[in-house]
Amino acid sequence: MKNNIIFAAFIVLVVLLLLLLSGTKSPQIPKDTLHIDIQEEAECLPCHAEGAINARKETHPPKDQCFLCHKRARKAHKD
Ligand code: HEC
Ligand code: HEC
Repeated sequence: MKNNIIFAAFIVLVVLLLLLLSGTKSPQIPKDTLHIDIQEEAECLPCHAEGAINARKETHPPKDQCFLCHKRARKAHKD
């Protein structure tokens, strides 16, 4: 029983670590007019879901919790 809890904690740790590592190379959310006002992840999908105007690549990580990996750019890179 105790071993199961330790094992579960270990799995959680590994998953978090992987998220953190993949997060470091995720491109930032551009600070342009398209992105500046968005508060919720659901609002990203109309443009970034499959078949949308800026669909993510096939190699994109499968998860949809955008803000876990994509942070906001501090400086505007266009606009
Ligand atoms: C109105 C459509 C639209 C919405 C909504 C939108 N995006 Fe975008 N996104 C774009 C377009 C178009 C580009 C490419 C041009 C640019 O840089 O703005 C882009 C670029 C990006 C990039 C940069 C990719 C790179 O290669 O640097 C990221 C990251 C991104 N979007 C994440 C998000 C996230 C996360 C959300 C939700 C918070 C979101 N977008 C909402 C249209 C949108
Ligand atoms: C687990 C981390 C993670 C999550 C969650 C995530 N992304 Fe990404 N995203 C990445 C990484 C890493 C890249 C760079 C991929 C590459 O260069 O091949 C990326 C690239 C992008 C790009 C640039 C185009 C592309 O496919 O490379 C856009 C746009 C984008 N993400 C939007 C989003 C949106 C919108 C969401 C939420 C619906 C989201 N991402 C969730 C990690 C993530």
